[in-house]
Amino acid sequence: MTYSASVVGGSGFTGGELLRLLDGHPEFELEQATSRSKANKTIGHQHPNLRHSDLRFSSPEELESVDVLFAATPHGVSMEQIDAFQDAAGTVVDLSADFRLETETQYDEWYDGHTRPELLEKSEYALPELNRDNLAGAELIASGGCNATATILGLLPLFEADILSGDEQIVVDVKVGSSEGGAGGGEASSHPERSGVVRPYAPTGHRHEAEIQQFLGVDVSFTVHAVDMVRGASATCHVFPDGPVSKGDLWGAYRGQYEDEPFVELVAGGGGVYRYPEPKAVAGTNRAEVGFELDPANKRLVVFSAIDNMMKGSAGQAVHAANVALGIEETAGLEFQGLHPVGAP
Ligand SMILES: NC(=O)c1ccc[n+]([C@@H]2O[C@H](COP(=O)([O-])OP(=O)(O)OC[C@H]3O[C@@H](n4cnc5c(N)ncnc54)[C@H](OP(=O)(O)O)[C@@H]3O)[C@@H](O)[C@H]2O)c1
Repeated sequence: MTYSASVVGGSGFTGGELLRLLDGHPEFELEQATSRSKANKTIGHQHPNLRHSDLRFSSPEELESVDVLFAATPHGVSMEQIDAFQDAAGTVVDLSADFRLETETQYDEWYDGHTRPELLEKSEYALPELNRDNLAGAELIASGGCNATATILGLLPLFEADILSGDEQIVVDVKVGSSEGGAGGGEASSHPERSGVVRPYAPTGHRHEAEIQQFLGVDVSFTVHAVDMVRGASATCHVFPDGPVSKGDLWGAYRGQYEDEPFVELVAGGGGVYRYPEPKAVAGTNRAEVGFELDPANKRLVVFSAIDNMMKGSAGQAVHAANVALGIEETAGLEFQGLHPVGAP
């Protein structure tokens, strides 16, 4: 069966990734891509990897009727336009934070409130490794945040295997590439300003803390650095378990959690150059690499995870969620294995 699909915000970075994925997806037919600023231009005009397509951007005010609509728009747009999106499509997958949190109170605390709080209980958060059962048949899906996705995938097995109870201190340091700021990222993301930096951009109070708290049930001390990559989010979590933990416990926990997951790879101190999770190794793919190392002298456990923020952290995760929602093979359209060797992602 083929499902028709559209992308609102198709001229942006994650929108471009959605267009790439839908263009190659065996079960989706890409019908519409919207952009206000690039209306009537071909999608290849904005995304040179898609020059083979003759699809042209159209106005988001004239949405076509499709099976699935992906919204890749800035925070606040989806909550304002959700009625139009849902009138146009039976399944809406939103990449923004507009429907990720469960309550209006959380939006008051972490964002600037919410204009459609009654819909929050009707949306399903998409991190399929966490809650794929909720996604089957879902009509409104909120694709998880990139830094939250990297962090949750790294820490989840420790809670599921009772290695952590939730009372321990957890310090998370995430390094992110410039595409995380979107095509409209502004001065901080411009090439001369970004080049060569390791810049703390959210030392405390990053909004993704709210998603992590919501799904892991714990507060984490969370800091994000902007670094000189285009793609990638690399989370390093410093964890201080109460009791003794062995390598065997960790392998048991992580294998138990992820051995059947098509998009999670364990990378924990084997041989070769890339012994721990590495954003470069997953660039362009929907894979997450997750790994760990013990530091017994300091009673510390270090957990690493690496994703491509525009794939597993947004567009890939959104397509994965749509696959689950519609009962399509989970990996359909997401099989790209990456490149090696390759320059900076
Ligand atoms: N970048 C990432 O790594 C990442 C990761 C996870 C989640 N996200 C989330 O995904 C969403 C998109 O991010 P992005 O990085 O792709 O942003 P972006 O590159 O800035 O693209 C935003 C797109 O939205 C369109 N747009 C802006 N305002 C609009 C409006 N009022 N109505 C309709 N279209 C509008 C823009 O095109 P026109 O102005 O031409 O219409 C553009 O195509 C954001 O909510 C972001 O937080 C991004």
